[in-house]
Parts: sequence; structure tokens; C-alpha cells
Amino acid sequence: MTSRLGFGALHLTDGGWGPPVDRDAAKAVLRTAVDLGVHMIDTADAYGVGANEELIAEALHPYPAGLTVATKAGQCRPGRGEWVPLGRPEYLRQQAELSLRRLRVERLDLFYLHRVDPAVPLADQVGALADLRAEGKVDRIGLSEVDVETIEAARRVAPISAVQNKYSVDDRAYEEVVDHCTAESIAFVPWRPIPRGDARVAKVAAELGAPEAAVALAWLLARSPAIQPIPGTTSLEHLRENMSADAITLTADQVAVLDQS
Ligand SMILES: NC(=O)c1ccc[n+]([C@@H]2O[C@H](COP(=O)([O-])OP(=O)(O)OC[C@H]3O[C@@H](n4cnc5c(N)ncnc54)[C@H](OP(=O)(O)O)[C@@H]3O)[C@@H](O)[C@H]2O)c1
Repeated sequence: MTSRLGFGALHLTDGGWGPPVDRDAAKAVLRTAVDLGVHMIDTADAYGVGANEELIAEALHPYPAGLTVATKAGQCRPGRGEWVPLGRPEYLRQQAELSLRRLRVERLDLFYLHRVDPAVPLADQVGALADLRAEGKVDRIGLSEVDVETIEAARRVAPISAVQNKYSVDDRAYEEVVDHCTAESIAFVPWRPIPRGDARVAKVAAELGAPEAAVALAWLLARSPAIQPIPGTTSLEHLRENMSADAITLTADQVAVLDQS
């Protein structure tokens, strides 16, 4: 695995709810992502309500050495478009067992608490993941959509290897978390990493003759060595554009343009 980029698989299953629209095309995207060097595939029990993990196993199992398959639990899906935090320990354990089965592995490489459930003590939610780790069913533990205080509270229960928050060149609400993860050697995995129609990105992309998505991803890679973006696409062409970010080195002037508010 040669890239700091990962691949987000959410959109490969219809609307995050149903099976893939085109199963063969979705498998081709996953296999090409691995061929192009992604080091991580990002999924969740809730994506396609299990169908996304099944698709990944069908496309990629047995997984190549060095590839991380990251999954999550902690949001249930009462209906299409509905995502409801559910962090009861027995539910998190059940979902881990189902992810192990669907991904056809004996240990989950990276297992995120998808959302902190405000109705359940944080220590119980992270404690459930820590118990699974102690049993050898989980290798690394991650959190999603969390602030620094929550990260530190969770770290008093278990080691946290990754934080997955929404972050991009045009969405900087989590600057403090990026800095904290960088200082603490925690992987920061930005979701929704590609902005839509950002004038600053368009300007730098035109200057470089590069796709806008690749420039936005290159900015993330330059922002911190802790950052491991997981752009998702259903298109082989977009996948290749996104992977071309690895080859882009932004100048200080270009970073300054992208950093303008
Ligand atoms: N932790 C969380 O709560 C959370 C929430 C949401 C998502 N995620 C994870 O993060 C991953 C990425 O997030 P995301 O899917 O919301 O955002 P994203 O990957 O930034 O955006 C996906 C969208 O961008 C388009 N796109 C991708 N590459 C493009 C390119 N080169 N040019 C133009 N358009 C392009 C895709 O359309 P095409 O298919 O047409 O390319 C798709 O509509 C997801 O797959 C999922 O694994 C996590």
C-alpha cells in the first residue's frame, strides 16, 4: 500500500441504504482503488445496512497484506436516510460480531464508534470496544465526530488510534482536533474531503492543470502528516483523479491561497 489516501465505500451501496446499483462496477472501483495503492477502505455496519461490508469482502477478500479495512458501529438505521446513534454495549458487540462475519475476518483492523450516543455513558461505549480489543476481535479503536475533550475522555478508557471527522479545505470546524491528533500521533481521517465549487481550489487547480478534487486532497495531505483522507466515488475516472493527489506538491503560495478565508 503506497498512498496516504484511503477509499470511502459509502456511496457504493445505493444511498447508503440498499445494495449496489451496479455490483460489478462497484467491485471494479474497490479493486482499482487497491491497485492504485490506497492503504485503507472505509465502511460501516450501517452502510447499505450490511451490504457495503459484504460487497467489500466479495471484491477484496482475501485482503492484501497492509490493507486496513476500517468499519464502524454505533448508528442504527430505522429507515432510508435515517441514522440514529445507538451506543449500548450489547448492541456495539453484536454489530462487531456481524461485521466480523460479513468482512470474513477474525479481527477488525480498525473499529470506530460511529457516533457517541448521548444516552449512554462514554466510558461504557468505549469500554465495549476495549473489551472487544482485549478479546482479540478488534485491533485498533477509532472515534467519529468528536471534539478534543471527548477524545481525551475516551483515551482514559482505551487507546484511540484514529479520529474520523468531517473536514476539508472549505470546512474547518475541527482545526483544533486536527492539531490535537497531530500532536498525539492519532490518525485524523477526514470524511467529505472534497469541497464542491470552491473558488480557491478552482484557482490553484487551473494553475496546476490538475483536477480540483486532487488539489483539495493535496491540501489535506499537506495540512498534517496525521491526515489520511478517505474520498469516495463510484467512478473509475474520479478515482484516478483523486489518487493523483499523491503526486501534487503545493507551493507555499498555493497553500496560502487555499487558506484564505
Ligand atoms: N464518519 C462519518 O460520520 C462519515 C459520514 C459520511 C461519510 N463517511 C465516510 O467518508 C467517506 C467519504 O465521504 P463522502 O462520501 O461523504 O464524501 P466524498 O468522498 O468527499 O464525496 C463523495 C462525492 O464526491 C463525488 N466525487 C468523488 N471524487 C470526485 C472527483 N474526483 N470529481 C468530482 N466529484 C467527485 C462523488 O461522486 P461520484 O461517485 O460521481 O464520483 C460523490 O458524490 C464515505 O465513503 C464514508 O466512508 C463517514
